[in-house]
Amino acid sequence: MKTIIEPFRIKTVEPIRMTTRAEREELLQAAGLNLFKLRSEDVLIDLLTDSGTSAMSAAQWSALMRGDESYAGAPSFYRFESAVRTQFGFKHVIPTHQGRAAEHLLFSLIAGPGDVIPSNTHFDTTRGNIEAVGAEAVDLPIAEARVPALEHPFKGNMDLASLKTLMAARSDDVPVVMMTLTNNAGGGQPASLENLRAVAAIARAHDTPLFIDGCRFAENAWFVKEREPAQQDRSVSDIVRDMFALADGMTMSAKKDAFANIGGWLALNDDALHERARARLILTEGFPTYGGLAGRDLEAIAQGLQEIVDEDYLRYRARTNAYIVERLDAMGVPVVKPPGGHAVFVDARAFLPHVPPLSYPGHALACALYEVGGIRSCEIGTVMFGRKPDGSEVPAAMDLVRLAMPRRVYTQSHADYVVEVFEEVKTMRESIGGLRITHEPEALRHFTATFERL
Ligand code: F0G
Repeated sequence: MKTIIEPFRIKTVEPIRMTTRAEREELLQAAGLNLFKLRSEDVLIDLLTDSGTSAMSAAQWSALMRGDESYAGAPSFYRFESAVRTQFGFKHVIPTHQGRAAEHLLFSLIAGPGDVIPSNTHFDTTRGNIEAVGAEAVDLPIAEARVPALEHPFKGNMDLASLKTLMAARSDDVPVVMMTLTNNAGGGQPASLENLRAVAAIARAHDTPLFIDGCRFAENAWFVKEREPAQQDRSVSDIVRDMFALADGMTMSAKKDAFANIGGWLALNDDALHERARARLILTEGFPTYGGLAGRDLEAIAQGLQEIVDEDYLRYRARTNAYIVERLDAMGVPVVKPPGGHAVFVDARAFLPHVPPLSYPGHALACALYEVGGIRSCEIGTVMFGRKPDGSEVPAAMDLVRLAMPRRVYTQSHADYVVEVFEEVKTMRESIGGLRITHEPEALRHFTATFERL
């Protein structure tokens, strides 16, 4: 059969509240033209993020009941620790309430002013946590990553020549090399095992640890299996183990590839750093056997980690995005190619060439998708990245709109509906104008800024 079906059936449902276009126009206006300020019940298809929005399995809901809420030494922690160790192989596992807490823990202990931390591309919370301790976050993606329409199997790769140059000049200032798998900010694109091996070798040559931001590790491993010669006959679990055996530690948001609604961890091999991290954890997150999570959350993660590497699931997951990308591409909507793991990325700068970057074409398209079809997406462009620490504003490298797919939540007909909304938006694209920011905070402005139409 050519149809790749959702490899699950539905036991519990949540109704979607229908709204009219006129109602949505009013709701968006009242939200200061910022989609983050909408109430989720006013959204038909919520593609704002794939983070914490997964549907849990019957086995995960059952595991919740087993959650032991003891302050110290709960069996739920040991099940969680064992699941993480089995999958990734690190010696120490420190639970945190979500990914950015693990990032904060790591960077507050190992980085400071004068340090520089390279990555294929830092996610915004990673960059934020590095900059918050006075260090510099540097993105070194391969050049192909910056060309949305260009097909390349591993656009999440690190540019090895740039990493070598940086390490040769400043390795004493580099406390850690990071790799983000998949590369979220760069379009959900994977890095190859070969590239990861080369990055690890460069880091090792300078005695510098390599840490992986593993948020979407299973999607990355799936693409390695699909696209990397010599990996096709191997299981996703084996590929995952190979990927992480190259690293000295990882930060993780369990809200992505652990099928959980909350949670994260810092895992590492270094005993001394582990001691320091545990001490800091007690100060900021909680005792080391719960780290800001309930015992039931630890159970949901332990079970989710087993389910996420299921290859039927990963095949269906990748296919959903590929299906939407193929259909948008066929109708002439510029998309990031090849399709990424967790989201469809539309090149809004190319779709709305009459809207200059500083008038936020990505944000303008995201607003139109909501008004026309009730779809909530997220700008990843000049609104998110354009404001510099000194308050000045420059166009981001790209103006993308991300349609992030919650895991196991939407069906084929929802995907068809999304395509149909794009058909409608395309007919009116000349009439979509730019915007201006009327109010913004100093950092991470996309969450709370308000806008008006030009
Ligand atoms: N790293 C990556 C690559 C991420 O995508 C995220 C979160 C984090 C770290 C931080 O994890 O949210 O648990 O604190 N990404 C979400 C998103 C917010 O929508 O892409 P967190």
